[in-house]
Amino acid sequence: MFTVKKMVIFANWKIYMGSRAEVSGYVEKIKRNLSGFNTDALEVHIMADFLSFEYLKKNLSGTGIKIGVQDLFWEDSGAFAGEVSPLMLKDLGCDSVYIGHSERKLLFGENDENVNRKVLAAFRNKITPLVFIGETKQELDDGSTEEVLRRQLSIGLKNVTSGMLEKIIFIYEPRWAIGREQSASQETISAMHKKTYNLLVELFAPESVKKVRILYGGSVNLENIKETIEIKEVDGVGAARASIDPLNFIKLIKIIEAEALKRARL
Ligand code: PGA
Repeated sequence: MFTVKKMVIFANWKIYMGSRAEVSGYVEKIKRNLSGFNTDALEVHIMADFLSFEYLKKNLSGTGIKIGVQDLFWEDSGAFAGEVSPLMLKDLGCDSVYIGHSERKLLFGENDENVNRKVLAAFRNKITPLVFIGETKQELDDGSTEEVLRRQLSIGLKNVTSGMLEKIIFIYEPRWAIGREQSASQETISAMHKKTYNLLVELFAPESVKKVRILYGGSVNLENIKETIEIKEVDGVGAARASIDPLNFIKLIKIIEAEALKRARL
């Protein structure tokens, strides 16, 4: 029996895949080379682009890998041209959804109110939300990180109950650490995870907050994953570029599985 929190790893495909051939090649390599992983200790999610989602869902079934998407709309159906219905995602068996990624905020006008609507839509449709928090470089330089995190959490989690909170996965992913050579420092990651925990305790019952998983994202790769997941406040990671090569992603899975098993034995 595992009494510790299950660790998690997310592969963020963004729109790195350019064709069905590339997607099917990825699937084949995963099936051929991933000999399995301990699903009691670790959750593995691939966050696909919308067009690849259903293919992955069908073709990776039986591997233990959960398949999610990178956004959803907050209404289930209606006159919302171009949007993606959470109801249809549920119907297709979507396991999880990214909400509020900094690229959505920076490039597509996502705000905290919309994050909140999307979190509630995910719960209504029984899809696990992975909620992004984190500051930009400007906010870091201004010293307003804590204020930003407080705002993201208090608006983003409006009308979320303690029971719902326990099921949300958070990811501290500062904008300035994405797409670089190096991730944030261990000191920063540890401090920000503690801050996030404390901010959640201001809003929710501490017993519920204790069950919440908080991940780190931003330039996670084979060189730095080990030191990142050894930080005790870190319950897992999200990786984009490092997950695009399936064999590299398998190596990340194996490293985090070892840490998850180590924590379970302690
Ligand atoms: P990266 O991106 O791993 O390529 O830095 C992370 C993300 O945007 O989720």
